[in-house]
Amino acid sequence: MTIGFILNGEDVVVRTEADTRLIDILRGNFGLLGSKAGCILGICGSCSVIFNGAVAQSCLIPAFKIRSSEIVTIEGFIQNDEYQDIMIGFSRAAVVSCGFCDTGKILTTEALLSRNSRPGREEILAAFSGIRCRCTDPESLAAGVMEAAEIRRRRLYGRTS
Ligand code: FES
Ligand code: FES
Repeated sequence: MTIGFILNGEDVVVRTEADTRLIDILRGNFGLLGSKAGCILGICGSCSVIFNGAVAQSCLIPAFKIRSSEIVTIEGFIQNDEYQDIMIGFSRAAVVSCGFCDTGKILTTEALLSRNSRPGREEILAAFSGIRCRCTDPESLAAGVMEAAEIRRRRLYGRTS
């Protein structure tokens, strides 16, 4: 089947089978390797993308569901100021990374901050329930997200209150 969708801000078309996984389309058809194939079971979060505004696991999305959707991968997201907010916030909170699930952590943070500019600890931990990270403890991660939120508020509004 032929499927059209928006990928990192551009209209694209792909010919594929209806049940091909989105992660395989991203990596195989578009050479976007930032979404990594970890568990392929929807557990680890290493394959995350932003799918129609929400973070989603691309290993669980079959091709037929992406028609007319809008998808942002980590390769598209790193072009934005929002990416820098998150990286600086993570750095200030000493969020440790081996690289395996960075994509999931970064895009989960973005999806959360795009709907709540001041998330609390419990909301952050709930948002990260779909990420299995062996490198970062949950408290450091929550601190990193709150730092990123403050950086973004300061960048956008010039104040943190
Ligand atoms: S590879 Fe998709 S959640 Fe693990
Ligand atoms: S960054 Fe190493 S497992 Fe998450």
